[in-house]
Amino acid sequence: MLLSYRGFMNTKLYHIVTYGCQMNVHESEKIAGQLYALSYTATDNIELADIIIFNTCCIRESAETKEIGNIGAVKTIKKSRPNVIVAVVGCMTQQKGFAENLIKKFPFINIVLGTHNINKLSNSILSVLNDRKRINEIIDSCDYTDKNVPIIRDRTLNAWVNIMYGCNNFCTYCIVPYVRGREVSRLTEEILQDVKELVQQKNYKIITLLGQNVNSYSSSLNGEKVDFAKLLRLINNIEGEFRIKFMTSHPKDLSNELISAIKECKKVSKYLHLPVQSGSTQVLKRMNRRYTREHYLNLIEKLRTKIPDIALSTDIIVGFPGETEKDFEDTCDLIQKVRYNGAFVFMFSKRSGTVAETMPNQIELAVKRERIHRLLEIQKQINNKMADEEIGKKFEVLIEEVTEKEAIASTSFGKVVRIKDANLRVGSIVDIIVTNVKGSKLIGEVYLGE
Ligand code: SAH
Ligand code: SF4
Ligand code: F3S
Repeated sequence: MLLSYRGFMNTKLYHIVTYGCQMNVHESEKIAGQLYALSYTATDNIELADIIIFNTCCIRESAETKEIGNIGAVKTIKKSRPNVIVAVVGCMTQQKGFAENLIKKFPFINIVLGTHNINKLSNSILSVLNDRKRINEIIDSCDYTDKNVPIIRDRTLNAWVNIMYGCNNFCTYCIVPYVRGREVSRLTEEILQDVKELVQQKNYKIITLLGQNVNSYSSSLNGEKVDFAKLLRLINNIEGEFRIKFMTSHPKDLSNELISAIKECKKVSKYLHLPVQSGSTQVLKRMNRRYTREHYLNLIEKLRTKIPDIALSTDIIVGFPGETEKDFEDTCDLIQKVRYNGAFVFMFSKRSGTVAETMPNQIELAVKRERIHRLLEIQKQINNKMADEEIGKKFEVLIEEVTEKEAIASTSFGKVVRIKDANLRVGSIVDIIVTNVKGSKLIGEVYLGE
């Protein structure tokens, strides 16, 4: 039935499968833009697609294994419809020697690109369509000009804006610097232009600035140096009603000036994702994070003194090579001291080519599992307790989603509140009062005054 509909409409369909971080989510919007320019339309149903694109991540082995399994599963679609084009792009394929092995394993793949040439996707598709040749092109770097890459944005409220690409930090566990290349900041003028257009012409209400370490942003405007704090102030000055979010911040580069900018800029969310990774100075040193436990805790104190209600979240790796029970307990102690609003906890995963891959004293899986459970349990207790403390508080919230039964809204502190009122409008801003909690979830009502 659907096939005949498709035949009748003669529409070519694409399906994108995205793995990994927000950076990838945004890059999939650039992939969608290119496909749209070639007259393809999106479909949620992979079985119907004329072109299937996997935008991959390789941050941990578990992610990679799942992705490879899903790519392999496309074989059955290719058997019944051999003309379907399959493309694999992104971080996973950018790894040294990976693309060749992938093609050997799955010869049905038509296109392989890395992280530096995603904007060549449309040309690659045309080549495959014209002469059915396979394209396998991984390049080491590019000049990152975003100009002229069409973008089909996936969301109506939030728009992602890259402010920089790549990473120079080489944390010893992390593959990102190898697959994304060295850090490059985009021109301030281009970023301001993008944000202006997104909020003034396209009516976006949230602008999320993206970079692996936004705190080291560095560019210039009219001959003056622009760091991240200055960039926030410039964006905050753009006319319009919108919120500014950003990620990710590296604790070693969080300056006093940036804390002041977050405090003083009305449009900037009072929410900070500030990954600590470990609560042990010894482990942090081996991770090459370039700060100590004490430095991190001082930062948190400074932040809370200046912006008392700031919401904080973190990433933590358990089972880093050589992590002792004492090191792990230091991490448990740190999360209890900080009281994060959210923590993303991962088991250390060996990544090919990184320094930590060959470090001695790798930790057994059973120990990693036990530690991740303990840490998550502590965090759950903290979240529940913090949620209880919100009962009775009033917030101004942005309505982000409305379902049949409720509206889902967020405070400028990044907290999510569910409101039993389906008549609210997405994008509107209302005052609410938190009336109840369910676990760590906040439930609220529209606040109509005393
Ligand atoms: N640039 C960001 C995000 C990097 S990737 C930052 O510096 O925070 C997101 C998270 O994945 C990291 O913060 C880290 O906690 C986790 N991660 C990275 N490499 C990992 C590995 N090899 N094993 C387990 N977790 C890892
Ligand atoms: Fe990876 Fe560290 Fe760079 Fe983040 S800062 S992307 S964890 S190397
Ligand atoms: Fe994954 Fe690449 Fe992001 S490795 S986490 S998609 S930068």
